[in-house]
Amino acid sequence: MSLQYEKHSANDADAVKKTCSKYGLTTEEFSELHQRAVAAKSTAYCPYSQFRVGSAIISINGVYFSGANVENASYPVGTCAERVAFGKAVTEGQRKMKAVAVSTDITPPASPCGMCRQFIREFCDLSVPIIMFDKNDDYIALHLEQLLPLSFGPEALPPPGSRSA
Ligand code: THU
Repeated sequence: MSLQYEKHSANDADAVKKTCSKYGLTTEEFSELHQRAVAAKSTAYCPYSQFRVGSAIISINGVYFSGANVENASYPVGTCAERVAFGKAVTEGQRKMKAVAVSTDITPPASPCGMCRQFIREFCDLSVPIIMFDKNDDYIALHLEQLLPLSFGPEALPPPGSRSA
């Protein structure tokens, strides 16, 4: 069974309008997320992969954050754009996001890696849209639940402090 998705142009006003009404965003929010994710690519530190990734997120309170991938000479230590953006949001007091955007220089659009999907899961409802933009400003939007089915989240654990051990 394969995941069904459609690709649209971010310059197609009708398609963007439909996407926004499906995912509970305004067209201004969509456009901000798009621009910020694209702009964030220029802040990437990716000398090893030369693969720039930009991410932009908006909290449920309407605050935007962006991030880019930050690599390291010890390769596994590098961090993805999405986790940089989420780390900034959380440490600035925003723990609940309403949309996530990712932008890369390839086509078709790249999707968040598995580790980022789980990281995103901590701070988003499963209905939150993940909007993936490619180098041509085409995009694919999917709910987090579609990218991470049967996921494990914080509600599966006992509340912090409730364990006696
Ligand atoms: N990368 C991201 O920033 N986000 C993803 O979801 C996929 C991969 C980065 C990590 C690394 O710096 C580069 O892309 C190549 O894997």
